[in-house]
Amino acid sequence: MKKASGIDGSRDWGLEKVYLHSTRQNLWNNDYLEFLVKCVWKIDKPVKIIDFGCGYGYLAQMLLPLVPKESLYKGVDISEDLIDEAREIFSGSKEVCFEVADLNEYEPDAEYDIAICQAVLRHVTKPEDIMKKMIGAVKENGLVICIEPSRRMENAGIYIDNRTYDPFENDDFLKQRWLSEEQSGGRDYQIGMKAPGFMEKLGLKNIGVRINDYVDFISAGTDDFESEQRRFIIDHGVDEKYADSNVYFAARCHVISYGYKK
Ligand SMILES: C[S@@+](CC[C@H](N)C(=O)[O-])C[C@H]1O[C@@H](n2cnc3c(N)ncnc32)[C@H](O)[C@@H]1O
Repeated sequence: MKKASGIDGSRDWGLEKVYLHSTRQNLWNNDYLEFLVKCVWKIDKPVKIIDFGCGYGYLAQMLLPLVPKESLYKGVDISEDLIDEAREIFSGSKEVCFEVADLNEYEPDAEYDIAICQAVLRHVTKPEDIMKKMIGAVKENGLVICIEPSRRMENAGIYIDNRTYDPFENDDFLKQRWLSEEQSGGRDYQIGMKAPGFMEKLGLKNIGVRINDYVDFISAGTDDFESEQRRFIIDHGVDEKYADSNVYFAARCHVISYGYKK
């Protein structure tokens, strides 16, 4: 299997399927995505969509029921494992196809109405170059959408309901980690905030920026509390001792930036 060498040195998302699935169960309010599709982006006729770094096709599952019938979707990802799963999920669907490719080398024709990515620019070493390819993939007036985290906002969105919990406890550690990732030419912890600026620099027009409004409100110790959610908060710097016994919120605040090709 091809390894995801384009991402932060070693991470192969095919090996992180369970985590990916779990985080996707708690990522969007359907009504908010529907509002974006119908009221903000006003997608009212069939569209051809390309999803950069599509994973197992989560966005296809979310978007296709919301866009007009006869819309077409293509997902591209470096992980063969995830693409295999995506093909299985959509087997029998003529409107959907997938391709295994490294986005760093991928050169799509300008044939799409919409190029979208979610949580992908955060994991590539040259996000602006990938955004350029997204712009290259759409026709004139085509829509480019990037849904990306800003790790400072994401971490600020975690709250543990315990008097002894100190939300500032890991700030220095995370700051060092994020800065060293950035300085080593790797991942950009603020990519969600930078994406609109890249869009402007790359010549998109009518740029808009929104925030995903989903908030995960979960009581640890209940049946709803999955081990992968526990992993999420520990990964975000929360001490393990708080992970099992307290109510917490996680507002990931992914930044949704979009703009149109001139
Ligand atoms: C956090 S996952 C997000 C997946 C999907 N967009 C979603 O939201 O469910 C990041 C994805 O980017 C893909 N990816 C990272 N670097 C890539 C590259 N250079 N070329 C193609 N895909 C890449 C990974 O394989 C993984 O599926």
